[in-house]
Amino acid sequence: MSFFQNTCKPKGLGGSLMVNMMNIGHSPMAEWGLKHIKINKNDISLDVGCGGGANIKKLLEKSPKGKVFGIDYSEVSVRKSKKVNKFAVERKHCEILQGNVQELPFANETFDLATAFETIYFWSDIDQSFSQIYRVLKKGGIFMVCNESNGENDKDKKWTEIIKGMKIYTSKEIKYSLEKAGFTHIETNKNAKGWLCVVARK
Ligand SMILES: C[S@@+](CC[C@H](N)C(=O)[O-])C[C@H]1O[C@@H](n2cnc3c(N)ncnc32)[C@H](O)[C@@H]1O
Repeated sequence: MSFFQNTCKPKGLGGSLMVNMMNIGHSPMAEWGLKHIKINKNDISLDVGCGGGANIKKLLEKSPKGKVFGIDYSEVSVRKSKKVNKFAVERKHCEILQGNVQELPFANETFDLATAFETIYFWSDIDQSFSQIYRVLKKGGIFMVCNESNGENDKDKKWTEIIKGMKIYTSKEIKYSLEKAGFTHIETNKNAKGWLCVVARK
């Protein structure tokens, strides 16, 4: 298995190394993405495909009176996320679960905000996944997708050739699936680095 396959579902030692790298490497993109949404102090948020938990930490800082949940189907990601957010987990300010976005283990209308950083590429059924996120968001809740690849650059192909099962979506494709799930007020932001941030409302 190629080391980069760990981006899809981190496993073993290579996976542990990959989540450490992603926590550092994805930080500038996550900071950029978070500038496009308003996060309230008491928001209940969900970070889907939370990887090593660095973005959960960012959300916790923005909602000191709320709660942040993380979910990821990789055991390695869940373990690292719990370690990175140990203090908040102990204080029950944060909960991290192992599970698949396609079957979210949360009641309808639980969250004010859901985020997905660098993860939708790996969701085997994007429509089902977006429908699940729509279901668990409160009415008026926000869903943000943030990717370093926008499907419009030649270098994107390099990644889909190395990483089995990866699909890079264009903003149009993301918008189409979001609308199918019921989302409205869809805003797309791109920058010169090819990063993409799509924000939608339930
Ligand atoms: C490239 S990493 C990104 C991690 C983190 N969001 C970040 O920006 O650093 C993708 C993560 O999504 C998780 N993932 C992929 N498909 C998933 C699914 N269907 N359900 C839950 N987690 C998933 C992987 O296990 C991995 O931890």
